[in-house]
Amino acid sequence: MKAKFLVSAAMLTVLLTAPAGSQENQQWIVIGDDAASTFASTMAVVGAERQLLGTFSVVESINGRTVMRLDPAAEGLLHAVVHVGHHRCGGYTVHPTREAALAEAGNPFYSPDFVADPDLFPRSIDQHAIVEPALDLVDGAEIVATIQMLQDLGTRYYQSENGQKAALELQRRWEDYSAGRSDFSVSLYEHAWRQNSVIATIQGAELPDEIVVIGAHLDSINISDQNAAPGADDDASGIATVSEVLRVILESGVQPKRTLQFMAYAAEEVGLLGSGEIALNYQSDGRRVIAALQMDMTGFAGSEENLYFVTDYVSADLTDFLQELIGEYNGPGAHQITFDETQCGYACSDHNSWTKIGVPSAFPFEARFADYNRHIHSPGDTLSNIDATGTNQARFAKLGLEFMIELGKSAGPPIANQ
Ligand code: BES
Ligand code: ZN
Repeated sequence: MKAKFLVSAAMLTVLLTAPAGSQENQQWIVIGDDAASTFASTMAVVGAERQLLGTFSVVESINGRTVMRLDPAAEGLLHAVVHVGHHRCGGYTVHPTREAALAEAGNPFYSPDFVADPDLFPRSIDQHAIVEPALDLVDGAEIVATIQMLQDLGTRYYQSENGQKAALELQRRWEDYSAGRSDFSVSLYEHAWRQNSVIATIQGAELPDEIVVIGAHLDSINISDQNAAPGADDDASGIATVSEVLRVILESGVQPKRTLQFMAYAAEEVGLLGSGEIALNYQSDGRRVIAALQMDMTGFAGSEENLYFVTDYVSADLTDFLQELIGEYNGPGAHQITFDETQCGYACSDHNSWTKIGVPSAFPFEARFADYNRHIHSPGDTLSNIDATGTNQARFAKLGLEFMIELGKSAGPPIANQ
């Protein structure tokens, strides 16, 4: 059992200087039982004197997840309490109604016992003629250049001017990779907030209605100062990894059977908002995503193996398939990748937006969860605190290439480079 969380002096300062909540504006959240009980006991100690007790109430606990009504004005407190007590940044999802929150907590796709349809995605590995030369094209320097471009914006907070600028700069960078291919386009996906998501599409030549997705989140965050959120590891590294997969696929002249989409999700840090909206929209429009790979934090070698597959809130089948890809393409030699498994313990990134609607998703991470890069969400999340050669990130890009090429499958001989 975890030691009972005690309210520290620093914590008290946060609590006592935060604005008191109003009762009007309600929302429901789903959060791990551990964090929920820490929050409840902290509020019992200090909430009364700030008239904050009415700002939350626990509805129900389902499968280790607590559904709670929470006044948005008390969200900063929740963040702070979870941060101090559990060394993570919230780790909860936000829902507009009680019903939506209950559905999220009880989602069958999260169950370790859930058995997926084995035919959701193809399991064959037979694209060696395309994959192997593509692996040689992955360039750490390209990855670092993309991280630098994003880090230089200073912040990519979802409501900020530079958060929106990041979307426009990335769109331009991705368009520049294309060499004018007519089956390629890059679009901005608009949301209710300032930052757009960015989606690049290579149209499938034979099965265009079956979509393979690789994604990362474009936004960054720093709870204390939104103008100082360079987010090099979290998650410029993931965006740069996805960008490199796209650049190499376009340079290789791969013509996929299925549609390939490269997604830079807005507003992940505030509750997986961008990816959540995109996934629900795809579902309601009947657009079929056969698999989604998430790249969130690829730059920091925190543990002994090269990468760690997150095993909660993902598809076990897709994770197995990725491990088979590594077995096939990344044995000893120039492209070697060693791996193990880890758990986030909560729905910690955009893979969950796909998992929750039944799309197989997977999430390879840079370290064991316990060894994650402690500079994230702070002004210190810069290239100087991750692999500034891009070698670490390049391994994730290689896995991404294998995933996109094998699931997209080639429609024929590679088209000639212009
Ligand atoms: N990249 C992090 C998630 C992460 C952090 C994974 C450390 C593994 C180790 C992500 O951007 C993030 O901060 N997520 C939020 C949750 C989200 C639902 C708001 C978090 O972890 O609190
Ligand atoms: Zn992240």
